[in-house]
Amino acid sequence: MLSAQERAHVTQVWDLIAGHEAPFGAELLLRLFTVYPSTKTYFKHLGDPLDEVQLLSHGQRVLEAVGVAVRHMDNLRAALSPLADLHAHVLRVDPTNFPLLIQCFQVVLASHLQGEYTVEMQAVWDKFLTALAVVLTEKYR
Ligand code: HEM
Repeated sequence: MLSAQERAHVTQVWDLIAGHEAPFGAELLLRLFTVYPSTKTYFKHLGDPLDEVQLLSHGQRVLEAVGVAVRHMDNLRAALSPLADLHAHVLRVDPTNFPLLIQCFQVVLASHLQGEYTVEMQAVWDKFLTALAVVLTEKYR
């Protein structure tokens, strides 16, 4: 898992996002659906064209869940258990979609935080988001 220093870096970046979950989350989803259109198949209810209000609302929920993960970095599995059940058993989201979301998340962070989003930050966030995705997809087995 993440070292104490890596955790501090994750929190440092999160502190810049906290309070802006809806716009960051909406941009994340917009990038995901645009760059990887196959991901839209899970979100038909968000409308075509996409409904801005719904995009903001779901984006906010996703980012708030990332915030929960940041606050429970040492116990991700327990903190995300209900969300893991939802994605595996109810939504049946194919696990191959998670790296696509991580890729878009990185672009959102880089484009907003620019110079503050150093190579080191990217590496740590990749590790953190991958750990999060592992927890959200491990109940498929
Ligand atoms: C629902 C988080 C990845 C598809 C949700 C919810 C959250 C969430 C918080 C709402 C749960 C609720 O209403 O109780 C996350 C996080 C992810 C992730 C943190 C990765 C880090 C994905 C991926 C897909 C996906 C990769 C598919 C491409 C969905 C769908 C819903 C959902 C279809 C239901 C939407 C709705 O009810 O309107 N997710 N998710 N999720 N997620 Fe994810």
